Amino acid sequence: MIRLLINLLEFSLKSFYKDRWFARFYVLETVARVPYFAYLSVLHLYESLGYWHKSDWLKVHFAESWNELHHLRIVESLGGGEHRIDRWISRIGVLGYYWILVFVYMIAPKSAYYFNQLVEERAYHTYDKFLKEHGDWLKTQPAPQVAVDYYCTGDLYLFDEFQSTNSSTKNRRPKIENLYDVFLAMRNDEKEHVETMKLCQQPDAQEKLRSPHNPELIG
Ligand SMILES: [Fe+2]
Ligand SMILES: [Fe+2]
Repeated sequence: MIRLLINLLEFSLKSFYKDRWFARFYVLETVARVPYFAYLSVLHLYESLGYWHKSDWLKVHFAESWNELHHLRIVESLGGGEHRIDRWISRIGVLGYYWILVFVYMIAPKSAYYFNQLVEERAYHTYDKFLKEHGDWLKTQPAPQVAVDYYCTGDLYLFDEFQSTNSSTKNRRPKIENLYDVFLAMRNDEKEHVETMKLCQQPDAQEKLRSPHNPELIG
Protein backbone atom coordinates (compact mmCIF):
# COMPACT_ATOMS: atom_id res chain seq x y z
CA MET A 1 0.00 0.00 0.00
CA ILE A 2 2.77 2.41 1.00
CA ARG A 3 4.86 1.42 -2.04
CA LEU A 4 1.83 1.90 -4.29
CA LEU A 5 1.30 5.41 -2.93
CA ILE A 6 4.98 6.30 -3.46
CA ASN A 7 4.88 4.93 -7.03
CA LEU A 8 1.79 6.98 -7.77
CA LEU A 9 3.34 10.18 -6.38
CA GLU A 10 6.55 9.62 -8.31
CA PHE A 11 4.69 8.92 -11.55
CA SER A 12 2.59 12.11 -11.12
CA LEU A 13 5.66 14.27 -10.51
CA LYS A 14 7.57 12.72 -13.42
CA SER A 15 4.66 13.18 -15.81
CA PHE A 16 4.04 16.78 -14.75
CA TYR A 17 7.65 17.99 -14.66
CA LYS A 18 9.20 15.85 -17.44
CA ASP A 19 12.66 17.40 -18.00
CA ARG A 20 12.11 20.43 -15.73
CA TRP A 21 14.55 18.85 -13.30
CA PHE A 22 15.26 21.80 -10.99
CA ALA A 23 11.54 22.59 -10.57
CA ARG A 24 10.92 18.93 -9.73
CA PHE A 25 13.78 18.92 -7.26
CA TYR A 26 12.42 22.12 -5.71
CA VAL A 27 9.06 20.48 -5.01
CA LEU A 28 10.70 17.28 -3.75
CA GLU A 29 13.09 19.09 -1.43
CA THR A 30 10.41 21.40 -0.05
CA VAL A 31 8.35 18.37 0.91
CA ALA A 32 11.41 16.27 1.94
CA ARG A 33 11.94 18.22 5.16
CA VAL A 34 8.43 17.64 6.41
CA PRO A 35 8.86 14.12 7.88
CA TYR A 36 11.75 15.26 10.08
CA PHE A 37 9.79 18.28 11.24
CA ALA A 38 6.79 16.01 11.98
CA TYR A 39 8.96 13.55 13.97
CA LEU A 40 10.52 16.46 15.87
CA SER A 41 7.10 17.95 16.69
CA VAL A 42 5.83 14.68 18.15
CA LEU A 43 9.04 13.79 20.01
CA HIS A 44 9.21 17.30 21.43
CA LEU A 45 5.65 16.94 22.67
CA TYR A 46 6.42 13.52 24.21
CA GLU A 47 9.51 14.94 25.90
CA SER A 48 7.56 17.92 27.24
CA LEU A 49 4.96 15.54 28.65
CA GLY A 50 7.71 13.54 30.37
CA TYR A 51 7.74 10.17 28.66
CA TRP A 52 10.56 10.51 26.17
CA HIS A 53 14.16 11.06 27.20
CA LYS A 54 16.13 10.22 24.08
CA SER A 55 17.29 13.71 23.24
CA ASP A 56 19.75 12.32 20.67
CA TRP A 57 16.81 11.61 18.39
CA LEU A 58 15.86 15.30 18.42
CA LYS A 59 19.38 16.26 17.39
CA VAL A 60 19.64 13.68 14.61
CA HIS A 61 16.22 14.48 13.12
CA PHE A 62 16.91 18.21 13.32
CA ALA A 63 20.24 17.69 11.53
CA GLU A 64 18.39 15.73 8.84
CA SER A 65 15.86 18.54 8.38
CA TRP A 66 18.77 21.06 8.29
CA ASN A 67 20.40 18.99 5.55
CA GLU A 68 17.18 18.88 3.50
CA LEU A 69 16.81 22.64 4.00
CA HIS A 70 20.20 23.12 2.35
CA HIS A 71 19.24 20.84 -0.52
CA LEU A 72 16.28 23.16 -0.98
CA ARG A 73 18.45 26.31 -0.82
CA ILE A 74 20.72 24.78 -3.48
CA VAL A 75 17.92 23.98 -5.93
CA GLU A 76 16.39 27.41 -5.25
CA SER A 77 19.70 29.00 -6.24
CA LEU A 78 19.45 27.06 -9.53
CA GLY A 79 16.03 28.59 -10.26
CA GLY A 80 13.95 25.62 -9.09
CA GLY A 81 11.30 27.70 -7.37
CA GLU A 82 11.02 30.58 -9.82
CA HIS A 83 7.51 29.68 -11.03
CA ARG A 84 4.53 30.40 -8.79
CA ILE A 85 2.80 27.13 -9.72
CA ASP A 86 5.73 25.10 -8.36
CA ARG A 87 5.80 27.10 -5.13
CA TRP A 88 2.06 26.53 -4.65
CA ILE A 89 2.24 22.81 -5.40
CA SER A 90 5.00 22.36 -2.84
CA ARG A 91 3.31 24.49 -0.16
CA ILE A 92 -0.02 22.70 -0.48
CA GLY A 93 1.90 19.40 -0.36
CA VAL A 94 3.67 20.49 2.82
CA LEU A 95 0.43 21.40 4.60
CA GLY A 96 -1.24 18.04 3.96
CA TYR A 97 1.89 15.93 4.35
CA TYR A 98 2.83 17.44 7.73
CA TRP A 99 -0.47 16.68 9.45
CA ILE A 100 -0.76 13.21 7.94
CA LEU A 101 2.74 12.34 9.14
CA VAL A 102 2.18 13.72 12.64
CA PHE A 103 -0.89 11.51 12.91
CA VAL A 104 0.82 8.40 11.46
CA TYR A 105 3.93 8.93 13.62
CA MET A 106 1.82 9.11 16.76
CA ILE A 107 -0.06 5.88 16.08
CA ALA A 108 2.52 3.87 14.08
CA PRO A 109 6.05 5.35 14.21
CA LYS A 110 7.63 2.43 12.34
CA SER A 111 5.27 2.95 9.40
CA ALA A 112 6.12 6.66 9.37
CA TYR A 113 9.82 5.79 9.25
CA TYR A 114 9.25 3.11 6.59
CA PHE A 115 7.33 5.55 4.40
CA ASN A 116 10.15 8.06 4.58
CA GLN A 117 12.74 5.34 3.97
CA LEU A 118 11.04 4.68 0.62
CA VAL A 119 10.86 8.41 -0.17
CA GLU A 120 14.57 8.82 0.59
CA GLU A 121 15.41 5.77 -1.54
CA ARG A 122 13.54 7.38 -4.46
CA ALA A 123 15.39 10.65 -3.85
CA TYR A 124 18.72 8.77 -3.98
CA HIS A 125 17.81 7.07 -7.28
CA THR A 126 16.41 10.29 -8.79
CA TYR A 127 19.69 12.13 -8.13
CA ASP A 128 21.69 9.10 -9.26
CA LYS A 129 19.81 9.02 -12.58
CA PHE A 130 20.23 12.79 -12.99
CA LEU A 131 24.00 12.47 -12.43
CA LYS A 132 24.28 9.64 -14.98
CA GLU A 133 22.19 11.41 -17.64
CA HIS A 134 23.60 14.93 -17.22
CA GLY A 135 27.03 14.32 -15.70
CA ASP A 136 29.06 15.85 -18.54
CA TRP A 137 27.06 19.07 -18.46
CA LEU A 138 27.00 19.26 -14.66
CA LYS A 139 30.80 19.08 -14.56
CA THR A 140 30.98 22.28 -16.65
CA GLN A 141 28.68 24.25 -14.32
CA PRO A 142 29.83 26.17 -11.23
CA ALA A 143 28.76 25.10 -7.76
CA PRO A 144 26.32 27.52 -6.07
CA GLN A 145 27.87 29.44 -3.19
CA VAL A 146 25.26 28.07 -0.78
CA ALA A 147 26.57 24.54 -1.50
CA VAL A 148 30.20 25.54 -0.93
CA ASP A 149 29.22 27.22 2.34
CA TYR A 150 27.24 24.22 3.53
CA TYR A 151 29.59 21.39 2.53
CA CYS A 152 33.00 23.02 2.80
CA THR A 153 33.50 26.32 4.53
CA GLY A 154 30.63 26.58 7.02
CA ASP A 155 30.09 25.07 10.44
CA LEU A 156 29.92 21.31 9.81
CA TYR A 157 28.62 20.30 13.25
CA LEU A 158 25.09 19.63 11.97
CA PHE A 159 26.39 17.99 8.82
CA ASP A 160 28.28 15.46 10.94
CA GLU A 161 25.25 15.05 13.16
CA PHE A 162 23.19 13.12 10.63
CA GLN A 163 26.01 10.72 9.63
CA SER A 164 24.56 8.58 12.36
CA THR A 165 24.57 5.03 11.12
CA ASN A 166 27.89 4.15 9.57
CA SER A 167 31.29 4.75 11.08
CA SER A 168 32.85 4.87 7.60
CA THR A 169 30.89 8.06 6.88
CA LYS A 170 32.26 9.82 9.97
CA ASN A 171 34.08 12.97 8.98
CA ARG A 172 32.58 12.77 5.51
CA ARG A 173 33.86 15.84 3.68
CA PRO A 174 32.45 16.25 0.15
CA LYS A 175 34.71 18.02 -2.34
CA ILE A 176 32.71 20.74 -4.11
CA GLU A 177 34.29 22.05 -7.32
CA ASN A 178 31.35 22.04 -9.72
CA LEU A 179 27.63 21.29 -9.94
CA TYR A 180 28.28 17.56 -10.42
CA ASP A 181 29.99 17.44 -7.02
CA VAL A 182 27.00 19.21 -5.47
CA PHE A 183 24.45 16.68 -6.75
CA LEU A 184 26.79 13.83 -5.86
CA ALA A 185 26.94 15.10 -2.26
CA MET A 186 23.15 15.51 -2.18
CA ARG A 187 22.67 11.97 -3.53
CA ASN A 188 24.97 10.61 -0.83
CA ASP A 189 23.12 12.60 1.84
CA GLU A 190 19.90 10.87 0.74
CA LYS A 191 21.62 7.50 1.19
CA GLU A 192 22.52 8.44 4.74
CA HIS A 193 18.87 9.38 5.41
CA VAL A 194 17.79 5.97 4.09
CA GLU A 195 20.14 4.22 6.52
CA THR A 196 18.94 6.34 9.43
CA MET A 197 15.29 5.61 8.61
CA LYS A 198 16.08 1.87 8.52
CA LEU A 199 17.81 2.10 11.88
CA CYS A 200 14.83 3.91 13.42
CA GLN A 201 12.63 0.90 12.59
CA GLN A 202 14.80 -1.65 14.37
CA PRO A 203 13.57 -3.06 17.70
CA ASP A 204 16.69 -1.81 19.51
CA ALA A 205 16.67 1.59 17.79
CA GLN A 206 16.30 3.45 21.08
CA GLU A 207 19.72 2.16 22.13
CA LYS A 208 21.35 2.27 18.70
CA LEU A 209 20.39 5.69 17.32
CA ARG A 210 22.85 8.09 18.88
CA SER A 211 24.16 11.49 18.02
CA PRO A 212 27.70 11.11 16.62
CA HIS A 213 28.62 13.90 19.07
CA ASN A 214 27.29 11.98 22.07
CA PRO A 215 30.10 12.10 24.68
CA GLU A 216 29.63 8.39 25.41
CA LEU A 217 30.44 7.54 21.76
CA ILE A 218 33.35 9.96 21.59
CA GLY A 219 34.65 8.46 24.82
FE1 LIG B 1 17.15 16.10 -0.12
FE1 LIG C 1 15.88 13.38 1.39
